[in-house]
Amino acid sequence: VERKRELMRLYDETVDFYERRYREIQLEKYEFARRYLLPCTTLLEVGCGMGFYLRELRKLAKLVVGVDFSEGMLRKVREGIVVLADAEHLPFRDNVFDQVLSITALQNFPNPVKALEEMRRVLHENGRLVISSLRKKHPLPLLMGLVERAGFRILEGIDEPRYEDTFVVATKSQLHKL
Ligand SMILES: C[S@@+](CC[C@H](N)C(=O)[O-])C[C@H]1O[C@@H](n2cnc3c(N)ncnc32)[C@H](O)[C@@H]1O
Repeated sequence: VERKRELMRLYDETVDFYERRYREIQLEKYEFARRYLLPCTTLLEVGCGMGFYLRELRKLAKLVVGVDFSEGMLRKVREGIVVLADAEHLPFRDNVFDQVLSITALQNFPNPVKALEEMRRVLHENGRLVISSLRKKHPLPLLMGLVERAGFRILEGIDEPRYEDTFVVATKSQLHKL
């Protein structure tokens, strides 16, 4: 809890710096992740920060919801619906989202498997997860292991040296399509 509070304060206090320093880099990661997202009805972004990509996501999904626990970050969001919440306790019912996206946030969560289990819980039965995390914290085999431990079936793991993140695409369903 203390670590979470510290992080919350850090993100709250560095919003403007974050925007200047990271906007371009993050947008490139979002563009890359977007290739793995499908047009859908409901999409959740976990750790959406100041919502760099929410407007684009709205072209893919009818309803886009962003979650972040930094009030400072969320105040900057100009698009769509955002919810102030902890990724490890998502305030949504089971099976309500078609897809979950999370970019460069998992490395911050004290209990990443709990957060991934929450993402899985709120996904529809055939729902898809597209997630990235900082490689220095979660090299690809580690990220894939966490995603699997949370009960997902991995579709693809991507270790693209151009980015400081590793990416995983996974599905909630353990059934192979017939
Ligand atoms: C590196 S930023 C990435 C933000 C955004 N995805 C982007 O690419 O610009 C990590 C984000 O995760 C959020 N975050 C960290 N721990 C969180 C938690 N436990 N629950 C919800 N959000 C969290 C931070 O507030 C921050 O906005």
